[in-house]
Amino acid sequence: MFYELAASTWGQEEIDAIQRVVESNRFTMGDHVKEMERRFAGYFGIRHAVMVNSGSSANLAAVAALFFKKSNPLKRGDEVIVPAISWSTTYHPLQQYGLKLRFVDVELDSLNLDTSRLEEALTPNTKMILAVSILGNPAALDVMRAFADRHGLYFFEDNCESMDAELGGRKTGTFGDINTFSFFFSHHISTMEGGMVITDDEELCHLVRSLRAHGWTRDLPPDSPLFEARSDDFFEAYRFILPGYNLRPLEMSGAVGLEQLKKLPSFTAQRRKNLALFHKLFQGDDRFIIQRENGKSSCFCFPIILNPKRDPDRKRVMAALKEADIGYRIITGGNFLRHDVIKYYDYTTVGPMTNADTAHDYGFFVGNHPFDLTPQIETLHSVLNQVCR
Ligand SMILES: Cc1ncc(COP(=O)(O)O)c(C=O)c1O
Repeated sequence: MFYELAASTWGQEEIDAIQRVVESNRFTMGDHVKEMERRFAGYFGIRHAVMVNSGSSANLAAVAALFFKKSNPLKRGDEVIVPAISWSTTYHPLQQYGLKLRFVDVELDSLNLDTSRLEEALTPNTKMILAVSILGNPAALDVMRAFADRHGLYFFEDNCESMDAELGGRKTGTFGDINTFSFFFSHHISTMEGGMVITDDEELCHLVRSLRAHGWTRDLPPDSPLFEARSDDFFEAYRFILPGYNLRPLEMSGAVGLEQLKKLPSFTAQRRKNLALFHKLFQGDDRFIIQRENGKSSCFCFPIILNPKRDPDRKRVMAALKEADIGYRIITGGNFLRHDVIKYYDYTTVGPMTNADTAHDYGFFVGNHPFDLTPQIETLHSVLNQVCR
């Protein structure tokens, strides 16, 4: 395809890393995963990192962990403020744990939660804000963090779409009490499938470690605050303390993740160069609404909303992109409230979801890969210029 929606970022280093795992003959979670956790925590300046087998699993383990905290745990029926646009598995763990979602519309230009609606979203039952920085563009994490602190709420960052983005000199994915990342194929770094939970809170870290592996104690130090170690190692080896899962990553993912993490700064730098060209061509053009950068974006794609005021023919535009061999898709999952699965959710909304609907109906994105995309972006511009006359 001339302009792929997603492109591989693996080189020989990743293949060699897999080969080293094959030669070691240890495939299940081990030293490579541990080292990936150590380096990842170091990169983000956070005390604890726990690797899992996907960003979705990271969200599941993180929500679950908040339910098993000793003090002030989440409880069924508690309310969580969420943005109307995100990926399905941002929301599913909340539903699975019996939380009530309170949807807030997004800003049309940033595509992130409209923080001017936070006061209205707050109720006596609110216990958490779930922040998502959409497609590499930091949400108003500083505003949400301050709001959460003011009202004694947990702040959860699903940062699966914005690794290496920055707001006020601080990396996204470090503002939350607990923060999650995805290493899926098309994301900032890729282990094909993989994810991470990071937190400065030791108890949350230990909870996620136990929940990741069957709810047992094996991956916890003997002085963990979660349990009191006993002397009979026969029974201690298979001691279950939490209703957990098996979300463990493979050693191959840990080894590839280490190689990809080394490349992350250069990936981000190249994506920002591509973004500069995209801005140059599209910014200020009334036909297209593009993402207003908040802080420093690490975008791995370029969302575009056809300005509804100009009554665009979306189908015609998509057909022109197809004809030009340019890959495109809906923005993240669009307005989540418009999916059939919503019938299983307990939720309320804060007013109409006007902007999320506009992004759903008139928006799409194309890829931004860590190599020079000048010909692709120029062609994209000329195709859209032509079809949106
Ligand atoms: C915001 C968000 N959260 C969670 C996920 C899930 O990550 P994964 O695909 O690694 O399960 C995604 C996936 O793209 C996402 O965009």
